Amino acid sequence: MTTTRGLRDRSEPITMLTAYDAGTARLIDDAGIDVLLVGDSMGTEALGYDSTLPVTVEDVERRTAAVARGSEEALVVADMPFLSVGVDESETVRNAGRMLKEAGADAVKLESGPHTVDLTDHLTHLGIPVMAHLGLTPQHVNQLGGYTRQGTTEAAAEEILSLAREHEAAGAFALVLEHVPANVAAQVTEALDIPTIGIGAGGDCDGQVLVINDVLGLSEDAPPFAEQFGDVRAAMTDAIENYRDAVESESFPAEKHSHVEDGLDDLS
Ligand code: KIV
Repeated sequence: MTTTRGLRDRSEPITMLTAYDAGTARLIDDAGIDVLLVGDSMGTEALGYDSTLPVTVEDVERRTAAVARGSEEALVVADMPFLSVGVDESETVRNAGRMLKEAGADAVKLESGPHTVDLTDHLTHLGIPVMAHLGLTPQHVNQLGGYTRQGTTEAAAEEILSLAREHEAAGAFALVLEHVPANVAAQVTEALDIPTIGIGAGGDCDGQVLVINDVLGLSEDAPPFAEQFGDVRAAMTDAIENYRDAVESESFPAEKHSHVEDGLDDLS
């Protein structure tokens, strides 16, 4: 069973993947992946939105519950969606608390910044483990002007390092670093005792995370730092086309798929 504390003591790199449903969570968990992130990337990967911004607390709660039901060993982390934290303190606690109390998550992830240091401290003291997230934070896409690399100037890199330290001091148990230069991520990793988990942040982080659809080859628009480890899109397309052809050619259903009940041949 992976725990937030256990992640810190690991000697091998931490593996983390996103999951949005019970079946996929079971496959990922069975493969021995350490952390299942119920990412707000579900907005683009599962719910058909153009960004993560429309994702609701209910969306994440429902999907987190499914992922928690589908996994036994992995740590389940619910990603707090846009404006679900930081607007109002009691609302923040209620929303994050729901992920643990109702959905069965082990922890929450907050897209972090100066505004989440005190929140991280507060949630942690209440017993809600927090994974921080710095660098490219997609919920800020409208301010960032796109999903661009972050921490590319000295001032920006220093800010990431300083915020990383502040979130560690506030009690975060791990830090996601997204789309930042590898040398910046390496220095952040060196500076912290908590593990860093990189996505587009080079090989010196304590672990790696990717979006499951990118790994499976299901994404239409994977980011440049992702790697496709399979071609599930081609396998699904084949299966769907084979089904269509079988129905159209009347080879499906066959006798073995059908059942005839005696005495029911002459209905009025
Ligand atoms: O929502 C998500 O999938 C994420 C990962 C990319 C870290 O935040």
